[in-house]
Amino acid sequence: MSEFAAWMQGCQARMENVLSDWLPPASIAPQRLHEAMRYAVLGGGKRVRPLLAFAAGEVAGADVERVQHAAAAVELIHAYSLVHDDMPAMDDDALRRGKPTVHVEFDEATALLVGDALQSLAFDILAAQPLARDAATQLNMVLLLAQAAGSRGMAGGQAIDLASVGKPLDLTELEFMHIHKTGALIRASVLLGAQCGTPSEATLAALDHYAKCIGLAFQVVDDVLDAEAPTATLGKTAGKDAANNKPTYVSLLGVARARELAQELRADAHAALADLGAPAARLRQLADFVVERTF
Ligand code: IPE
Ligand code: IPE
Ligand code: MG
Ligand code: MG
Ligand code: MG
Repeated sequence: MSEFAAWMQGCQARMENVLSDWLPPASIAPQRLHEAMRYAVLGGGKRVRPLLAFAAGEVAGADVERVQHAAAAVELIHAYSLVHDDMPAMDDDALRRGKPTVHVEFDEATALLVGDALQSLAFDILAAQPLARDAATQLNMVLLLAQAAGSRGMAGGQAIDLASVGKPLDLTELEFMHIHKTGALIRASVLLGAQCGTPSEATLAALDHYAKCIGLAFQVVDDVLDAEAPTATLGKTAGKDAANNKPTYVSLLGVARARELAQELRADAHAALADLGAPAARLRQLADFVVERTF
């Protein structure tokens, strides 16, 4: 196993524990909701957003014992977004992270409530204990996540996605949708990780630029994988975008050009890190991972 793969595995194992500790036990009432929350979050996923938070934390000299909580908050928002994204009123998917989706395994009402409760828990975590150097910075972290998740972030991007079914978007419109539905939470992951340390303004600006490139690249690659990778590798139903008549980078540009674009965004992400030196090594590796991943 490469040194990077070992680092990823270590972070993923840490996140499994942190998330498990934050999620209410399934033995506590309401048991079924708690069971479904744990089902939605634990035992799967690449944990890319936490990985980005840890890597950005390294650049800002942050304590991992703090970053892990900020990382958990973003991962919970992400997990909630997946639960709702899979529901019949949205993408209507039956498979997620290699398991039946939450509304299939439980029921639709439970899936709605799982999303609601995971979102609340995310903000609970961000506010529960000191994570940043001062209270004002931490308040800013709460604001950052709220805006990234809301109607001018992820939820807004999802609304555009739904409104775009069957419509041929142009490149600007498609980029706007992807930057919101996926880019916003990726950006929040990087900035929240950094805010747990003591980043300079210049470092934050560089990280912000990096995160924007990687956030868009992430969804471009998601579109490519939807068209190219098998269901068994993805852990979610392949070919769903075409089946649902979604405008994607693949439908607009074709697979080859979409892959090229992801490579260009990776190069831009690397360039954004140029002045950050050795502490940004993990972020460089993660940019490569986001673009080269097969699932
Ligand atoms: C899938 O995200 C949904 C998008 C925002 C593209 P991930 O590919 O990060 O899903 P998990 O967390 O690894 O399952
Ligand atoms: C999902 O985009 C974005 C969010 C969940 C916010 P997709 O609909 O492409 O994600 P997958 O492919 O179902 O994971
Ligand atoms: Mg979707
Ligand atoms: Mg989907
Ligand atoms: Mg997709």
